[in-house]
Amino acid sequence: MGSIALEEPVPAEPVDPNADLSSVLPMTAEIRDGHLWVGGVDMVELARTQGTALYVMDEAQIRNQLREFRKWTAFHWKDVETVYAAKAFMCKAMCRVVHEEGCMVLCASGGELAIALAAGVPASRIQVHGNNKTIAEITEAVDAGVDRIIADSLLELHRISEIASARGVEQSVLLRVTPGVKPDTHGYIQTGQEDSKFGFGVNHGLAMEGVRVAAALPGLRFAGLHMHIGSQIFALQSYSKAIEVMVDFMRRVLEETGQSVIDLDVGGGIGIKYGLADEPSTIEQFGKVVVDGIKEECESNGLPVPRILIEPGRAVVANAGVTLYTVGTIKEIPGIRTYVAIDGGMTDNIRPALYGARYECLVANKADQPRTEIVTIAGKHCETGDLIARDTPIQAVETGDVVCVCSTGAYCQSMSSNYNKQVRPAVVFVNAGEARTVVRRETYDDLMRCDVV
Ligand SMILES: Cc1ncc(COP(=O)(O)O)c(C=O)c1O
Repeated sequence: MGSIALEEPVPAEPVDPNADLSSVLPMTAEIRDGHLWVGGVDMVELARTQGTALYVMDEAQIRNQLREFRKWTAFHWKDVETVYAAKAFMCKAMCRVVHEEGCMVLCASGGELAIALAAGVPASRIQVHGNNKTIAEITEAVDAGVDRIIADSLLELHRISEIASARGVEQSVLLRVTPGVKPDTHGYIQTGQEDSKFGFGVNHGLAMEGVRVAAALPGLRFAGLHMHIGSQIFALQSYSKAIEVMVDFMRRVLEETGQSVIDLDVGGGIGIKYGLADEPSTIEQFGKVVVDGIKEECESNGLPVPRILIEPGRAVVANAGVTLYTVGTIKEIPGIRTYVAIDGGMTDNIRPALYGARYECLVANKADQPRTEIVTIAGKHCETGDLIARDTPIQAVETGDVVCVCSTGAYCQSMSSNYNKQVRPAVVFVNAGEARTVVRRETYDDLMRCDVV
């Protein structure tokens, strides 16, 4: 991974040292006696007993988000499924919460499927996607009897057909379609544009060809269409535009092939608040734009409204999570910046290095004090780009303090690595005063578990 230049001095913009951080902290966060508490648990005490780095997830907020998605989609249309995109954060405990809340699980690999099944999620409540599923992964999904496989290419349709036919079963498939819409988000997480490695483009006849093939091949049941235009999307008009294209395509599919679309899956991508200035849409607004949009488009195209699927990932877990670190070295470079080094970094949160993502931070043991300093929170790994937060406001910070990085519940633990042979942190769910470890911290033995000397 390349390094990044950091010559620019600390930015001059004024920051409010007393800014309220509650919108980027878990919903149960509160300050008691100067400490940050989440889920009725003292984060400073938890860092002391569990060690750092540590991922903490507010279970009440995860459940709340799942309920909100169900509520605000069902409010507009009865036949809607919320399919949680497990890639955002996954472990067995998370799968159980998702299932208990009446949502389905969307898996992106054989590994995710294995975890969902091991957690006890019935295959009928699991869907599988991915742009290059291996034959083994397709076989595992068909054998498990998953609800839908989202097919990404003609090759995949043929492979699913062969595998299902050999077993004498019929596998329901959705076709991933790229509607040609580019949402306003980071280029690395735009997926709905025509120039994409994902899916069947709608504009050059590939998607129509996909429908014909899916409908004709043995062992396949064409069940509908899928799209996912990107991630961390704020502007809901991108969904409206894509839905217009998808429903128009549904009409053409019916006219040209006689195939009805049973499911229309609009993917995930709903943006969340990382920085205090971010203004994402609400789940209520998302539900209205998507569900009402589909209903209106179906009406004007003379089509029945299909089952609607949504696949939120980030919006379910991001704000429910925080990461706790202990401060080690502090390096002050006069006139340039102060580096505050923590006992983690790009191995537990790759997003700043990967996308330039920004986070709000605070000192958990000084949570009632104003954030009067501007520092750069640096990881402990051998990369200049290993920075968790550049030039960020924080309380007067000292070695031994517990730093809390907000809104780290999505795409941090799930993208973590063992670079520098760092052990991965534990994950703790907090709820109503209880802390339960749902993923234990790795050990050095774990680092050598796969070595075959
Ligand atoms: C097909 C699909 N659905 C849903 C998601 C979840 O997206 P998000 O976490 O932005 O809601 C992703 C993530 O990239 C995805 O690829």
